[in-house]
Amino acid sequence: MGLSANEISEIKATWAIPAATPSESGQAILLEFFRRYPANLQKFKDFKDMTLDELKVSPRFHAHANKIILTFDEAIKTLGTDESPAALQKIWSKIATSHVKRGISRESYMELKEVILEILTAVCKLNAEQQAAWDKLVTAVYDIIFKTMDDLGK
Ligand code: HEM
Repeated sequence: MGLSANEISEIKATWAIPAATPSESGQAILLEFFRRYPANLQKFKDFKDMTLDELKVSPRFHAHANKIILTFDEAIKTLGTDESPAALQKIWSKIATSHVKRGISRESYMELKEVILEILTAVCKLNAEQQAAWDKLVTAVYDIIFKTMDDLGK
């Protein structure tokens, strides 16, 4: 995927911070995602009518927040191994396929990317080089998602 050994080690080192509290980190990302881009909340049938304050105490919301972080965790653990390209392909094409069924657009993914990178930058105090490495990682996994969507005709 074109990440250097140094970029991989920067990603792994900074990821340790949000990964230590996956549910809280995921919630911070999702709450900001819905606050900034509320149309995305409508895709969640169980909490589309909730306010952000109600979401904060919803167990299903916590579960989804956790799932996003765990997906990244799984992907980041493979970085730097021989199995990484095949593992990333498997993890992210599965996300693409399950989300196509829910009508999630490329635009929604890009909105989420913006929020993820912003929150990581704040929480992990990323410098410019680390931000570039993270951008490269998310771009690479999004390439897999968007290519899978293309293949599915979406
Ligand atoms: C980096 C991107 C994302 C990751 C890693 C991710 C991860 C996940 C996972 C692991 C699940 C549950 C298992 C599955 O069905 O695949 C899920 C469900 C879901 N995701 Fe995402 N997701 C991402 C982006 C998005 C975006 C941009 C939206 C836009 C609204 C979204 C909306 C949903 C919805 C509506 C569900 C179903 C929730 C439920 O039924 O409780 N996801 N996601």
